[in-house]
Amino acid sequence: MAETAHSGKHETKARSTPSGAPGTMPGDTTGATTGTGPHPAPAAVDLSHCRAQFPALELRVNGYPAAFLDGPGGTQVPRPVIEAMNDYLVRKNANTHGAFLTSRATDETIAAARRALADLLGAEPGEIAFGANMTTLNFALSRAIARGLRPGDEVIVTELDHDADVSPWTALAEQGIVIRQVRVDPETCTLDMEHFASLLGPRTRVVAAGWASNAVGTINDVARIVRMAHEVGALAVIDAVHYAPHGPIDVRALGCDFLLCSVYKFFGPHVGVLYGRREAFERLQTYKVRPQSPEVPEKIETGTLNHEGLAGAAAAVDFIASLGRPYVETFREVLGGASGRRAEALAGMHAIEAYEAPLCQRLLDGLAQIPGVRVYGPPEGHPRTPTVSFTLEGRHPAEVARFLGERGLFVWDGDFYAVTLVERLGLADKGGLVRVGLAPYNTAEEIDRLLEAVEELARSSRPGW
Ligand SMILES: Cc1ncc(COP(=O)(O)O)c(C=O)c1O
Repeated sequence: MAETAHSGKHETKARSTPSGAPGTMPGDTTGATTGTGPHPAPAAVDLSHCRAQFPALELRVNGYPAAFLDGPGGTQVPRPVIEAMNDYLVRKNANTHGAFLTSRATDETIAAARRALADLLGAEPGEIAFGANMTTLNFALSRAIARGLRPGDEVIVTELDHDADVSPWTALAEQGIVIRQVRVDPETCTLDMEHFASLLGPRTRVVAAGWASNAVGTINDVARIVRMAHEVGALAVIDAVHYAPHGPIDVRALGCDFLLCSVYKFFGPHVGVLYGRREAFERLQTYKVRPQSPEVPEKIETGTLNHEGLAGAAAAVDFIASLGRPYVETFREVLGGASGRRAEALAGMHAIEAYEAPLCQRLLDGLAQIPGVRVYGPPEGHPRTPTVSFTLEGRHPAEVARFLGERGLFVWDGDFYAVTLVERLGLADKGGLVRVGLAPYNTAEEIDRLLEAVEELARSSRPGW
């Protein structure tokens, strides 16, 4: 584990502020990388103005302003997204493919959502399918892929991942598919890539791996994982649910066959997204009802979609593009020649990455100064998301989360469904971890409030201190 070094001495000095004032970015984005391309250019990025667009941030708890540090479980929703969903329900609500106005508007709502998510991911609209959530889509995907597999074929999953990227694949063991699991190194919370290489072979048909860990923030070298999967002729399926809110995605550059994410993790409603590389998607034998289109992407979309959610999903991408618009020139070099909303959405994700990185450093530095706190996650310098998990000696994680929650500091505790990782960290029977996740609406002031509260609890946990 990457345990932070502690001086053992409690200090009340002002927090070190590696990034200066809230929202400033003095020109270093180390620790944040896409895993697929060059690091974003050094830039001064301030996204704190976006707070005004999130009505939920007005909430108060016991007199404290609510600080939403629970983003990895789902972000808050900006006003334009709420309005888009409202507008759909008021003016366009119908089922699809009818001969009348609201039905046509519904068809267009779905098409617009495909275009928006294609812009966010660097795909074609016809390669974007929607579903209830990532887990449901991944089960549909694994079952469809399994129709082309034979007993003895092999599927590789990892110990680092959320169970939504594990169980849909391990379920295939029932039909004789051999499941292999890449080990995680519990000291560094990173994947053992040598072990991964040793698991690949002529019977490997699928490699399912996460882009980033929702439990500890580790960003994996997914480009390498995809390449290695393809070298043995396997499909590469990437779970980008935790990565997508924190960095730019280019599915073409990555070269993956399928990629999944969830719009509620990046300012939208509860909708799951599946990207399928056209050729791989066309070969897929999905389970479907007879009247359903056999064509991509509809062939995996069973039943009626969440139309108001899709209106919100498109608006969420527009929101990200609105964050990126002022930064298109700043990040021009890493936009790969993109234009229009694709360029703005990419710039938005680079801007989010640049805004969150120094806040994350502030959080890590502050936690390192609190005796009894142990941070679990990748070592310094390893690519990571701004999702930081820790334990506090002598306190159950649920107790820590409750204490913080009473002070309006919303954090998660538990295993966050990253069950194997938490087992490998030896924390499964100890309540898991306390998880703090950052989003563009979070500020340095909120992090300082959190650190002060953890410090207060740490002090009361250690009477002699
Ligand atoms: C990394 C990761 N993968 C998959 C999921 C499951 O996503 P969904 O809730 O859309 O099924 C989550 C949800 O937290 C996640 O963090």
